[in-house]
Amino acid sequence: MDEFKNSIASSIFNAIDKEVELNDIYDKIEVPKDKKNGDFAYPCFNLAKILKNSPVNIANEICSKIKTDNLIEKVEAVNGFLNFYISKDNIIESTLSEIVMKKENYGKETGRENINIIVEYSSPNIAKPFHLGHLRNTVFGNALYRLYKALGYNVITINHLGDWGRQFGLLIEGYNKYKEEYDIKNDPLKALSQIYTRISKEAKDDEQIMENARNNFKKLEQGDEELLKLWKYFREVSLNEYNRIYNILNIDFSSYNGEAFYNDKMNEVIDILDKKGVLVDSQGAKVVEVASGMPPCIILKSNGSTIYATRDLAAILYRARTYDFEKCIYVTATEQILHFKQIFEVAKYLVDEKYQKGLVHVSYGMIRLKTGKMSTREGNIIYVKDIINDAINKAKKIIEEKSVNIDDIDKVSKQIGVGALVFNYLKSSKSKDIIFDLDETLRFDGETGPYVQYTYVRINSILNKAKFDINNISTNDVNFKILDKKQEVELVKELSKFNDIINSAANEYEPSTLARYLVNIATLFSRFYNECNVLAVDDEKLKLARCVLVYATGIVIKSGLDILGIDCPDKM
Ligand code: ARG
Repeated sequence: MDEFKNSIASSIFNAIDKEVELNDIYDKIEVPKDKKNGDFAYPCFNLAKILKNSPVNIANEICSKIKTDNLIEKVEAVNGFLNFYISKDNIIESTLSEIVMKKENYGKETGRENINIIVEYSSPNIAKPFHLGHLRNTVFGNALYRLYKALGYNVITINHLGDWGRQFGLLIEGYNKYKEEYDIKNDPLKALSQIYTRISKEAKDDEQIMENARNNFKKLEQGDEELLKLWKYFREVSLNEYNRIYNILNIDFSSYNGEAFYNDKMNEVIDILDKKGVLVDSQGAKVVEVASGMPPCIILKSNGSTIYATRDLAAILYRARTYDFEKCIYVTATEQILHFKQIFEVAKYLVDEKYQKGLVHVSYGMIRLKTGKMSTREGNIIYVKDIINDAINKAKKIIEEKSVNIDDIDKVSKQIGVGALVFNYLKSSKSKDIIFDLDETLRFDGETGPYVQYTYVRINSILNKAKFDINNISTNDVNFKILDKKQEVELVKELSKFNDIINSAANEYEPSTLARYLVNIATLFSRFYNECNVLAVDDEKLKLARCVLVYATGIVIKSGLDILGIDCPDKM
């Protein structure tokens, strides 16, 4: 929390008499994972050079100079770290009053509205179904968007659709040949992808088909009206399908400019690279050499056509000009790591260094089914719309069995079913593969979305029973010192970290930090509620203080879920 970090930073600053920036000290203050290392810690390693001493000596020296006060209760020097312990009364009072004051804005930041951050995510290839990998991408990218938004940035979201390339020449060929045989109206993506698979197989033994496909795409590139109309139709039916999923997830994009958008913007890229003398011939193709160990980045193939990478380079140029971004974050699966390394390097010839340095590729692991790897070839591909429906139906069954009295059961089933899926994707760190198991995902206990949502629902019901109304509360009337049980203090300390958690999740592109934090809050809340009576306590002062703690926990859970893109029911 800012207040504690500020005062820790100043106390370190005052203890050092050499030139060190207060801000630099502030930025390096950490929240230790292990409580044994205090509430905050400051590593002295970076001071070693400036102060010409060892980190251990520096830590000892600073430690001896810092005076404890009513905020900092204790400081220890351990192996080059300074560990700070905040006084319990202070942390409780300042955290809870801040939450009561800021409500759903607690933990969030403002003031960066003129800094642009691009999050490019989802980006499926049109005319193909949306699979579980796309769902992970979409849910993850949306969480990044919301994290940066919570930190006050102006965030632009781009769905860089895979809507251009030679494959559309082939698809057009197949479509014209077989359209009558498929039920395109009812399930266009399935039909189009089946047509595509069929014609690709045929093209392997039939050079004429390949030739036609090449011609089709050439015509498309040149703006042939007939073919463009067809292409537009493919794009439209695809987007209709994707939008159904985006709507359920409550996701919209600032821009749907995909690869096709850059069709007329690649010549400039080629010109710039050529003028800079970095475009070289290689086996008939035009390439740009990149760092050793990596294959060169192909810009033009030997037949003169542009490729995926060329369009991405045009996109970088366009985005730098249009959005003046501080960061442009790309979310894709790990298969594209090399591609992004290559184009980010070539980007240095196209845009200013500040833009090139702002390019970030974030990749995530695979999704496996319990039965093995997900694969189109094996035919056991799972459609996201089916999974979402299954999750919602299953959630409905569970609440029906619990026979809770719920007005809009469809709405709540959707909140739980979709929330469970989203949470399941976000709780694992991004690099990990996920083994998808719907039953596990929808459990009401353990590290699941429903478990966290359920904690919020319990909190609501406790506050209702207590007739607690936040609008009638003045923090001056609350005696925070009364909260001194271990479970109360631990819960508040965790709530106080919310802003740090948001920052670290955003900076490390790791929404799982926030997801796991919420599970921890839910667990600490349940420990607190088991040990500390809230409703049946005689002491009115104690009841009020505990209700404020319950309320504050609800705020953090609800906001935290919201940042992850998860809706929370009031009842379940
Ligand atoms: N359409 C690509 C795919 O499905 C992902 C696009 C990623 N973004 C980019 N700018 N290349 O694999």
